[in-house]
Amino acid sequence: MKSGQRRSVLQAPAIHALFILCSALLVVVLIRQFLLRPFGLTLTPFVFAVLHGVIAATIAYLRRMAAWWVPILFCFPPAAVLVNSLQLPPALFLGIFLFLMLLFWSTFRSQVPFYPSGLPVWNAVEALLPEGRALRVIDIGSGLGGAIMYLARVRPDSSFTGIELAPLPWLVSSLRARLFGSAGHFVRGDYTQLSFADYDVIFAYLSPAAMTALWFKARQEMQTGSLLLSYEFLIEGVVPDIVVYPRTEGPALYGWHM
Ligand SMILES: C[S@@+](CC[C@H](N)C(=O)[O-])C[C@H]1O[C@@H](n2cnc3c(N)ncnc32)[C@H](O)[C@@H]1O
Repeated sequence: MKSGQRRSVLQAPAIHALFILCSALLVVVLIRQFLLRPFGLTLTPFVFAVLHGVIAATIAYLRRMAAWWVPILFCFPPAAVLVNSLQLPPALFLGIFLFLMLLFWSTFRSQVPFYPSGLPVWNAVEALLPEGRALRVIDIGSGLGGAIMYLARVRPDSSFTGIELAPLPWLVSSLRARLFGSAGHFVRGDYTQLSFADYDVIFAYLSPAAMTALWFKARQEMQTGSLLLSYEFLIEGVVPDIVVYPRTEGPALYGWHM
């Protein structure tokens, strides 16, 4: 792992949350040992966990973590004790962990989880594709591949690629493309390592956390006349050239001409 990547892993909110849980655990152990035990007082596992959650949530609040971390950290220790009391087979936890790991992969670092966009969005992207010439189009973070397979079908003159970091969505998209004979092409990889200069249209459905870096990369690498599209997420401080609403009630699809 490169030092930049190591730094970004350590700065990830989920890793902060893990450190906070460990620190809060230490605080509760110290309280039990030095404040309660001398007076003959004990904590049941559930009360211990609630105290753990309260201290972790307080640290998250004081450290100004995003608002959702406070309830998550408050609930995590008691939830862990409750689930443990169900005496479920350990293999179940391993199975769920492996499934979620393959589905979300490095979401804890990228802060871009998997969730699909859907047909109305793909229609809106199709309507924005320049006509009359063959295009090179990429979906950065292509998930299950629906957008690329749809666009490859309706624009057979152009080439469509999806790049996906997480192994499970990438595998599903590749198998779907083979099974349905799609001309869409799927690669497993990190779009930040890709040259955007090779594409006429870039479609992104990422998250607010990814947008500033995406804009810098697009400005540096995309060629004049190319088009950057982002569903739902704006680039802070950059007015879009295109705003369309794929669903009557729902987020916009934004576009920037380079
Ligand atoms: C919100 S989903 C969008 C899925 C798909 N584009 C769609 O429209 O249905 C975002 C996807 O981006 C992937 N992703 C996040 N960071 C990535 C990166 N640096 N390189 C490639 N894929 C990434 C995630 O694994 C996730 O599957």
